Amino acid sequence: MTQHYITSQNGAPVADDQNSLSAGERGPLLLQDFHLIEKLAHFNRERIPERVVHAKGTGVYGTFTLTNDISRYTIADHFNGVGKQTEVFVRFSTVGGEMGSADAERDPRGFAVRFYTTRGNHDIVGNNTPTFFLRDGIKFPDFIHTQKRNPHTNLKDPQAMWDFWALNPEAMHQVTVLMSDRGIPANYRQMHGYGSHTYSFWNAKGERFWVKFHFKSEQGIANLTEEQAAKMKGIDPDHAQRDMVAAISDGHFPRWKLQVQIMPEADANHYRINPFDLTKVWPHQDYPLIEVGVMELNRLPQNYFAEVEQAAFAPSNMVPGVGASPDKMLQARLFAYADAQRYRVGANYNQLLVNCPHATTANHHQRAGAMAGTQCPYHHSQTGADSSANYGPNSSANSLQDATEFREPPLRLEGEAARYSRYDQDDYTQAGNLYRLFSEAEKARLVSNICGTLSQVSRDVQLQMVAHFTKADADYGARVMAALAK
Ligand code: HEM
Repeated sequence: MTQHYITSQNGAPVADDQNSLSAGERGPLLLQDFHLIEKLAHFNRERIPERVVHAKGTGVYGTFTLTNDISRYTIADHFNGVGKQTEVFVRFSTVGGEMGSADAERDPRGFAVRFYTTRGNHDIVGNNTPTFFLRDGIKFPDFIHTQKRNPHTNLKDPQAMWDFWALNPEAMHQVTVLMSDRGIPANYRQMHGYGSHTYSFWNAKGERFWVKFHFKSEQGIANLTEEQAAKMKGIDPDHAQRDMVAAISDGHFPRWKLQVQIMPEADANHYRINPFDLTKVWPHQDYPLIEVGVMELNRLPQNYFAEVEQAAFAPSNMVPGVGASPDKMLQARLFAYADAQRYRVGANYNQLLVNCPHATTANHHQRAGAMAGTQCPYHHSQTGADSSANYGPNSSANSLQDATEFREPPLRLEGEAARYSRYDQDDYTQAGNLYRLFSEAEKARLVSNICGTLSQVSRDVQLQMVAHFTKADADYGARVMAALAK
């Protein structure tokens, strides 16, 4: 019955896990108590750096079922063959807070979906909003600095936040979303998800399409008001995690419909909206939603740290049939995630159970590095077809071959290499359109939410923001100005 004994890491039974080895009853302790030393030393190493953004999150596994074959747009295996099921892992998160921060913050919610497909892992690392604050990734570190703590006071800093938005009007659309009712989802089940960026699809004929992903909640939408959220943060800072654990444990499996908007490649040259500008949506009347499938979440991870904290989602995790687009934000993200994960989790993070492919094997010539091994039970990820060959091509019968049938169609590029201005690209039309869609009550709450923090900042920043709101819609600006005067 040795399997019930407590052991050291080397598997040796430990005779006493409750009392340190001491010289005499009153101590001191002996260096030879290696079990005590191992226990303390491992404890000191229990934390890894939290994610630099999206640190607080909830992970769940599930299944994606294809209800509409879209092989006319993409060869991606998980989008071909009605009825096909693909395992998924999803992580929901808030953006600006630390690992222990409250779930009820006014903040976008991360909505990261991984499909474990037969041709590798496909990640859609999106948010609960179809747009973002920026249109160029070079601004991301500046922006996040204004959302995190002030380096001097270590407090959240409304002055920095609004000063940044005042000087970067491209944020107007997303600021309007964030300050609206949708700025605080009631939980992770009752919100939509969006890939947000424009990605690309390509089909067997080599035709390319631009694509946007939408996950529509079948639970409907529910939000918290500022007052409800303030209470919730005190009563239960983990309310969204608790809600998800309860739903899955009770068998109330949440579902989202996956839909796509598809734009033929050539349309991008003449569409009135820059389709690669992340601050803008494609109106549905121009590019209607096309059904693809249903995602159901139904299984909680066994080990939160191993599977959720060490999960490494990346927009660069794409599969044949799915590609990037010229979107400057997406381009920056294609670099940022894997780089962050090599630092946060380690060079071999893709060998971990949650990160390795589940429905295929990873075969390559990358070898060794910290913690290199065979952790992934789905396959021995560094062995490839022949574990002795760490170069390619090689003359062995098992030499790994290029998968030439999955060659992405070439993309024609033109233009001169330069740093093109982010400014003056119509920052206001879609923000104003969204404002005009709101009911009277929604407008009143929007203005009140804005003034909750805008009232705490300097007058010059307030006036710059009022000027931006006015450019989006004169009534929007006038109401914010009047509310600030109170
Ligand atoms: C997490 C960078 C924009 C959604 C992260 C992480 C980094 C990062 C470094 C942490 C990754 C990790 O340690 O595992 C950036 C940069 C951006 C950007 C440089 C702009 C250029 C966006 C946008 C979205 C987004 C536009 C949504 C549309 C997410 C999500 C996570 C995340 C959902 C958490 C993934 C998870 O659950 O593990 N981002 N990000 N990010 N980002 Fe971004």
